[in-house]
Amino acid sequence: MIYTVTLNPAVDKTVEINDFSAGKVNRVSSVRLDAGGKGINVSKVISSLGGRSIAMGILGGASGGFIKDYLDCRGIDSDFVFIDEETRTNLKVVDSLKGTNTDINEPGPLVNSDDLDMLLQKLLDRVREDSIVVFSGSVPDNLDKTIYARWIGEIKEKGAATILDADRELLKNGIKAGPYLVKPNIYELGEIFDTAIEEAEQAERYARQLVVDFGIELAAVSLGEKGALYVDKKRSLLAHGIKVDVKSTVGAGDALVAALAYSIDTKAGFEAAARLATACSAANVTTAGTQAADWSLIDDLQERVVLEYL
Ligand SMILES: Nc1ncnc2c1ncn2[C@@H]1O[C@H](COP(=O)(O)OP(=O)(O)OP(=O)(O)O)[C@@H](O)[C@H]1O
Ligand SMILES: [Mg+2]
Repeated sequence: MIYTVTLNPAVDKTVEINDFSAGKVNRVSSVRLDAGGKGINVSKVISSLGGRSIAMGILGGASGGFIKDYLDCRGIDSDFVFIDEETRTNLKVVDSLKGTNTDINEPGPLVNSDDLDMLLQKLLDRVREDSIVVFSGSVPDNLDKTIYARWIGEIKEKGAATILDADRELLKNGIKAGPYLVKPNIYELGEIFDTAIEEAEQAERYARQLVVDFGIELAAVSLGEKGALYVDKKRSLLAHGIKVDVKSTVGAGDALVAALAYSIDTKAGFEAAARLATACSAANVTTAGTQAADWSLIDDLQERVVLEYL
């Protein structure tokens, strides 16, 4: 079973406003509410791949209730700790006239240690040797940035696989715990090594260093429209980006993580995983907001993935 952990989920509220401008009255032409937060996005994509996951994390208030219902309606299993404070709402203003996207993100509620311990306990009670646990996204402001590192350690003790997709200190600390898989984009990979990385070949060297130094089984480095690199102990594979009509690149990384988690769960081979993850993430950028793409499109795109060993 795949478990996704979202410590700071969000309701994504997308409004369309043509000719949006600050400091005046703006009229909204359409509104859309989606359950969001990186782990929840991963669960949505796993579902569109035909897989199963259990979305876990912390939800609160009416917006937390909305997220729970949203997942229930789509047949996505969940097991959240509920708190009184309201889960955040992130506002996305889409202006098709000016071609701009404006994000207004709330910080989200703080979380106390009892609720956090309850969540970890729920997770540990469920996890078995063949489980996969995905840790992704930001965490509430009051939490220590070693939280993913500590939880990865606990899950590893159970013999299960862990996936880490975070940035800055959460990522830097988390890799030291040796997750099974880490998914930085090229900028985040640079952050780990305090350097700027531009080329795939350079990224490959740093990704290999992650594998060797931290005992990581698979380093997947996403390169945006250029595709992604998949580096394990034996090989380095570059999956070239697929040319698609771009609607929104938000959540592309989550789609890549979802496909990799699903591939580990279904014991797909290295190349098959790289092909599926690259196709799945490219399909995701053709959909608005963080909506998951349909399986038919993902499957079509799989044939267009060009793989090259470095
Ligand atoms: N413009 C694009 N065209 C085709 N594929 C894309 C494009 N942008 C992203 N992708 C696909 O999505 C994957 C992940 O994208 P990206 O590197 O932007 O992740 P990210 O920065 O972690 O995104 P996020 O954290 O916002 O979800 C890429 O490896 C690629 O396969
Ligand atoms: Mg990302």
